[in-house]
Amino acid sequence: MSSQNPKRVPEEASDPSLSVTLDGETVDARPGETILELAERHGKDIPTLCHDPRLAPAGACRSCLVEVEGSRRLIPSCATPVADGQVVTTANDRIARHQKVLLALYLADQPDFAARGETPGGAQACELHAMADAVGAPTDWPKMEPLRVGREDRNPYVQFFPEACILCARCTRYCAEIESVSAISLAGRGAETTIATADDVSLLDSSCELCGGCIDVCPTGAMTEKMPVTAGRRGHVEPEKVVRTTCNYCGVGCQMDLHVEPAANDGRGRIERVVSPEAGTTTNDGNLCVKGRFAYDFVDHEDRLTTPLIRAEDGSLREASWDEALARTVEGLMGVHERHGADALAFVSSSRCTMEENYLVQKMARAVFGTNNVHQCAAT
Ligand code: SF4
Ligand code: SF4
Ligand code: FES
Repeated sequence: MSSQNPKRVPEEASDPSLSVTLDGETVDARPGETILELAERHGKDIPTLCHDPRLAPAGACRSCLVEVEGSRRLIPSCATPVADGQVVTTANDRIARHQKVLLALYLADQPDFAARGETPGGAQACELHAMADAVGAPTDWPKMEPLRVGREDRNPYVQFFPEACILCARCTRYCAEIESVSAISLAGRGAETTIATADDVSLLDSSCELCGGCIDVCPTGAMTEKMPVTAGRRGHVEPEKVVRTTCNYCGVGCQMDLHVEPAANDGRGRIERVVSPEAGTTTNDGNLCVKGRFAYDFVDHEDRLTTPLIRAEDGSLREASWDEALARTVEGLMGVHERHGADALAFVSSSRCTMEENYLVQKMARAVFGTNNVHQCAAT
């Protein structure tokens, strides 16, 4: 119900040397951790929208408010550090009332299509609606006229629906703190505040790297993937099949989850979108680059080979089975080996393969064919 990223246990670096009363229980707390981090370590489920454990706290959405003894107002737990002797309450009637009103107000300011529980672009599930459901927020409050405006951006990948934005600033903070790009920021004043580039230029004319991280962190789908929108696919649909794989655009080895529609393309399947596994779970820590996240339509390109081809004596190509193609490859390699010796062969692999595949290529060169003529493009 909270952030789409898993909450990470705060650094173990500092010893728990503070004492805090959390929902009536005395617990040890670490200097520097927030009330939210302490609460999560003790299994409390505090709703959050603007919080992302990778980002500096913003205290922007007010969904994580808790009671702290001595304070008349509810306090944002994500942005408040623990203190020795603090007495914290994370759940009671007052907090529940606040959550319901807050979420009802957010919903009243959401566009109609989002109010139906769809995220505008369908690229991700809507955390806002999930949270509203979870706290039992009223959904029948009169709709407000959205004042936030945006314009169509000619970039091919990132779509922004300003009317669905709750100004949590996860996208802008991700862009600044994780991508170190700062292509987008909060712009405008009051109810007209929105997300924009400097001088409101297209993302293509800004410092944006089109990494799509702003899409990944957005809790409402206001920042969403353009390709499904262009293809007329609206509303979040749970993927029928998720395939974890390794990106083969470079040798970094980012993990990615392919959302697959298995029945499409006459049963061959179709990739609907690519998302990063949750932050903190794989080496890419919730991030992907523009190629990994968006450049998946080549898979279905009409020029793409889907069957091995064998060149005949006359130079023409004909389709073959994998068994036949592999047998022909072995035959050719062994023939050169027999006629000209092992060092007449050379093997070149690619940084676009996984480390394991590259290992196997050099193993085959050395152990099977007896040559050290093996190279990989990343070595040049
Ligand atoms: S796509 Fe990446 S670089 Fe561009 S605005 Fe979004 S987070 Fe920033
Ligand atoms: S676009 Fe999404 S992530 Fe960015 S401020 Fe709006 S709701 Fe938050
Ligand atoms: S999660 Fe704490 S204010 Fe948004």
